[in-house]
Amino acid sequence: KPSPYPTLCSRRPDYTPNHIPNPNYIRIFDTTLRDGEQSPGATMTTIEKLRIARHLAKLGVDIIEAGFPASSEADLEAVKLIAQEVGNNNNNNNNNVAREGEDGHVPVICGLARCNKSDIDRAWEAVKYARYPRIHTFIATSEIHMKYKLKMSKEQVVEKARSMVAYARSLGCDDVEFSPEDAGRSEREFLYEILGEVIKAGATTLNIPDTVGYNWPREFGQLIADIKANTPGIENVIISTHCQNDLGLSTANTLEGAYNGARQLEVTINGIGERAGNASLEEVVMALKCKGDLLGGLYTGIDTRHIVMASKMVEEYSGLQVQPHKAIVGANAFAHESGIHQDGMLKNRNTYEIMSPEDIGLFRSNESGLTLGKLSGRHALKAKLFELGYDIDGRELNDVFWRFKSVAEMKKVITDDDLIALVSDEVFQP
Ligand code: KIV
Repeated sequence: KPSPYPTLCSRRPDYTPNHIPNPNYIRIFDTTLRDGEQSPGATMTTIEKLRIARHLAKLGVDIIEAGFPASSEADLEAVKLIAQEVGNNNNNNNNNVAREGEDGHVPVICGLARCNKSDIDRAWEAVKYARYPRIHTFIATSEIHMKYKLKMSKEQVVEKARSMVAYARSLGCDDVEFSPEDAGRSEREFLYEILGEVIKAGATTLNIPDTVGYNWPREFGQLIADIKANTPGIENVIISTHCQNDLGLSTANTLEGAYNGARQLEVTINGIGERAGNASLEEVVMALKCKGDLLGGLYTGIDTRHIVMASKMVEEYSGLQVQPHKAIVGANAFAHESGIHQDGMLKNRNTYEIMSPEDIGLFRSNESGLTLGKLSGRHALKAKLFELGYDIDGRELNDVFWRFKSVAEMKKVITDDDLIALVSDEVFQP
């Protein structure tokens, strides 16, 4: 049965020549510009958002959630600009420079809206300029949110969700995503009911958020499996995950979601987002790239060689620094300091690297990628010096090594300049 999910782009890898979605294809929905920007202090300017959106298109992101147009005039304008420029693959200049999104990929541009007409109108006003526009509307479904935040009964919440999805469709938007906020803490039967109703009303993607990052992997995977098994009409829509990182489980939960049937994963660059953030794009995508076979051959359309640049842009524009030991994009993610590790690396890089830095667009200034410190051994020092143009051995190497050790005791990281100074002293001393 053909999916009602709109064709993203004829050249996307999720479509076979007959335009039937490949069941193993995972759509990457990036919400750096919406949920990511909700991180305290992460406000970005319109031009910064446009640059990030362009880069996300280059990365091959399937859906860009460009903002929450009802939240401010500036957000509406930013989403609109992204819809016009990135959502149509315009390069924004006429100088015959290569177009953004090298393979001609045109992402879906999405705007967030609460379940009310005015939010939905503003979201549509912003995204309708895109070739593939999407409205993403949400309402909370957990007892605690309905009682204290919404002050609405279950029946009222279902009616609101159903009528607002239908309203979004009535505007001419044929791609509508619905999220039952706080699904991770919502009653199962109620979820099946509300999701079944919004499918009937025209929702094309059902996103299941663990809004407060409270689930753990097995639990979240089971939630997705149960929704898939029990929601009427679910076979005609895409199931999505949106996992917050309050317990540090967002990546694991997202992957469990995929394993149990989700085919859209909501993520952010560097994992930025509300409180402890969201599942990070680079972790989820690289986990699927390294181990997707174990999950039944799941794959994404992301060109991972643009990951490092995306991370650096978001770090700079959001002002949120990436911790050095952050998986995939942290400064130490491919650094090897202890002697045993360095020795292994020199013999075969696979001894301590499960992916190649070049795969994520990290090109090191040196071949070996060794970082020298107090735990480094002679082999690594010799290799590093060789790269720097000093081929020394025997007593000479031994002398430099002990001098290097005493400096390394005092300095955390030994730079190339430090090494050159050390070896120059040794070599040129009478
Ligand atoms: O965390 C959340 O529940 C959200 C929804 C709007 C998807 O951000």
